[in-house]
Amino acid sequence: MKKRINKSERKFLSAGRLQQSGQKPKDLNVHARSQWRWTNMFLLSLCIFSASIPFLLHIFSASIDLSRPSDIGLNHTINMYLTPEQGVRVGVWHTVPEHRWKEAQGKDLDWYEKALGDGSPIFIYLHGNGGNRSALHRIGIANVLSAVGYHVLVMDYRGFGDSTGEPTEAGLCTDVLYLYHWVKARSGNSLVCVWGHSLGSGVASTTAVKLLEQGKEFNGIILEGAFLNARMETNKLTEHPFTWFYRKFPYIQYLLFNPLKNKDLNLPTDENLQKIRTPLMILHAEDDHLVPFTSAQEIYRIAKKAQNSDERVKLVRFDGSLGYLHNGLYKDPGLPNIIREFVQSLMI
Ligand SMILES: *[C@@H]1O[C@H](CO)[C@@H](O)[C@H](O)[C@H]1NC(C)=O
Ligand SMILES: *[C@@H]1O[C@H](CO)[C@@H](O)[C@H](O)[C@H]1NC(C)=O
Repeated sequence: MKKRINKSERKFLSAGRLQQSGQKPKDLNVHARSQWRWTNMFLLSLCIFSASIPFLLHIFSASIDLSRPSDIGLNHTINMYLTPEQGVRVGVWHTVPEHRWKEAQGKDLDWYEKALGDGSPIFIYLHGNGGNRSALHRIGIANVLSAVGYHVLVMDYRGFGDSTGEPTEAGLCTDVLYLYHWVKARSGNSLVCVWGHSLGSGVASTTAVKLLEQGKEFNGIILEGAFLNARMETNKLTEHPFTWFYRKFPYIQYLLFNPLKNKDLNLPTDENLQKIRTPLMILHAEDDHLVPFTSAQEIYRIAKKAQNSDERVKLVRFDGSLGYLHNGLYKDPGLPNIIREFVQSLMI
């Protein structure tokens, strides 16, 4: 978009130059004069048109209203706000299974809440750093999960999107625990799984441990583009062999942890996985440019050892040639089946 505006500005400038240099000759016959007038009018219209392009672009690229997911074609998704703590309001999108999309038309929060108990598996999706729940790759995963037949709840943690409050590690986990209990109060006997992407993978594993302390657990955990430990990633664990990647590319910390980067971050997935006995699937693209694939291999090694099982811990690698990088797994045509098989394995 920026490029297009720049282009139009260039056009505008060059049109202005043309006009200035188009000086009126002294002796002109009528034909030449009218031609000169037409040229001028043409250039003037061009100027007006070019100058209005940025405004037109502005009108058509109006920012997404998070309270109205239907504006961007999400026709079986509703927006809601929860209050995990006094003074903190978080925005959540609830998407019902795609096969219910027709039924969902025009329905209110009450209907969606009841739908949560329809027996379909439920995913709580914890997104990564940057942007909000409307980002393309997040909608991409929600759509895949919905198409497979599951409910998806995508939350903006406090301090993200239209959610109020200050983002902190403890605050993020409080928001997720609150959403988990909110879901469990409505989900009957349905499976409730968590999907954590990037920053969200650390929040997912940390929340899973907090749930264990309450004697509860997710039925399944999927970690996508997961890092081992935020302390390492923010360079506080400098002796760790994996930190070389982040010392080499310091900007990555900004991309992974931006609103939280100056806070004391732990999100120790490596340590959490020692305690967790929940079935786990790790998804990682070989060409992930923010969290190296070796991170997934290490997570896999740790979890497999802790759970002492090849069945309960899976690592799915996406070939580097597919170009998915850190956010693109939702594009994989095989993903629906990978997810379906994982969820079915939880039902046995
Ligand atoms: C959420 O992100 C979209 C782009 O995906 C943007 O248009 C919108 O303004 C953002 N809203 C908030 C409240 O951050
Ligand atoms: C609503 O969404 C579903 C699933 O994405 C799609 O198949 C259907 O065509 C959409 N309907 C309308 C009216 O947009």
